[in-house]
Amino acid sequence: MLRLRQISLVCALAVIALLTGCRLDMHVQPRQNPLSRSDFFADQRSERPPVEGTVARGQLHDDTYFYTGRIGSTPGDYMPFPVTKEVLERGRERYNIYCAPCHSRVGDGNGFIPSRGFARKPPSFHDQRLQKAQLGYFYDVMTNGFGIMPDYASQISPQDRWKIVAYIRALQLSQNATRADVPAGQAVPSQPPLFHGQPGSGATLPIIDTKTSSNSEEHK
Ligand code: HEC
Repeated sequence: MLRLRQISLVCALAVIALLTGCRLDMHVQPRQNPLSRSDFFADQRSERPPVEGTVARGQLHDDTYFYTGRIGSTPGDYMPFPVTKEVLERGRERYNIYCAPCHSRVGDGNGFIPSRGFARKPPSFHDQRLQKAQLGYFYDVMTNGFGIMPDYASQISPQDRWKIVAYIRALQLSQNATRADVPAGQAVPSQPPLFHGQPGSGATLPIIDTKTSSNSEEHK
């Protein structure tokens, strides 16, 4: 007798639990599926446009020169930040990765890829025309591409593009320096570096003795 009562109690509890589980009002709330139609708004789009003038985080490109290299429609000729040794080192590293395969490490256009059949050889950065080109012009070529050269906007950040620009200008100076550009006390030609241990193999860099590079010979 007791057993039967127990069973009916359990059954009653189960029925109550089932019935209360069917209350759906908090579970299925009114909502719109993405890109679905809505009769609520006049344009029938459930997605609402962002408030006019909304700028996504990190996308406020208010410094137009920094992001385009141009002042109006002409390229500007100044760096948007000071050039330090670190800036040039970063520029050299990025240049050697992204540009040297075609333009070569010295920028004469004799890179490896054109030598293996790339459709066109790039011009030398030491041509008079590119010697005189504004800094913003180089930035613009990297940002938008030029002729058959693709743009590098998605691979290289704006900051790094400017650092490459600074390094290209340094390359141009390096290939066209005169004796007057050499600081007093520096030998011309400079002393060959002294290497430690094994010479570099191509995969490894040689270790250069930095102490001996202070020059004893006077600049004549
Ligand atoms: C895939 C090979 C390739 C790579 C990589 C490359 N370039 Fe070029 N670049 C070219 C070629 C080819 C031209 C000539 C394009 C033409 O005349 O159609 C050129 C032209 C240029 C010019 C000259 C534009 C002019 O007025 O004549 C500049 C400046 C330049 N590249 C900068 C760069 C920089 C900076 C990088 C690295 C971020 C780079 N390039 C990477 C192939 C390359």
